[in-house]
Amino acid sequence: MKDIVAIYPGSFDPVTNGHLDLIHRGAKLFDRLIVAIARNLDKGEPLFDLDERKEMLQAMIGDLDNVTVDIFEGLLVTYCIQQNANAVLRGIRAVSDYEFELQMALMNRKMEPRVETVFMMPAEKYSYLSSRIVREIAKLGGPLTGLVPEMVEQRVRQKVAQKQSVLVGTHPK
Ligand code: PNS
Repeated sequence: MKDIVAIYPGSFDPVTNGHLDLIHRGAKLFDRLIVAIARNLDKGEPLFDLDERKEMLQAMIGDLDNVTVDIFEGLLVTYCIQQNANAVLRGIRAVSDYEFELQMALMNRKMEPRVETVFMMPAEKYSYLSSRIVREIAKLGGPLTGLVPEMVEQRVRQKVAQKQSVLVGTHPK
């Protein structure tokens, strides 16, 4: 039998219940799953730094003994080869995700044909959920119940309050 190691890459800023749903599905399918937080994202200033994201993910996957969390830099396919991984796991929530995911999967395959991308669907109730929406709702003081675990909700609220107070402090009246 083959030992299938999959990488689940992303920015996880912060981890959502949709991510956790996918991690649980992936943990059942693959022998080993590495949740890999990308360092070099061209996405503007993140809410959480990489170590904070890693710590929250680790706290959330404690019960899964074939799942680990890591931080990677550079090309995903290079990291896959370094980790002896044969698959990349990505979630597809809606048709709108498909075009970008297809482009990424095919480009990754062109660069590294030994690595296959596997798409999985999270539960329907998470199909509208993203880290970006969680950050936006939090900044505007809306409810996060059911979108992220309780511990992550507390961390998000603390972080948003901290960033907003820094902003207020540096802005002239
Ligand atoms: O959670 P995200 O932001 O959708 O994750 C995107 C991610 C991290 C998977 C993607 O940006 C990525 O793979 N970055 C690593 C750099 C890389 O390999 N880029 C070429 C992709 S074809």
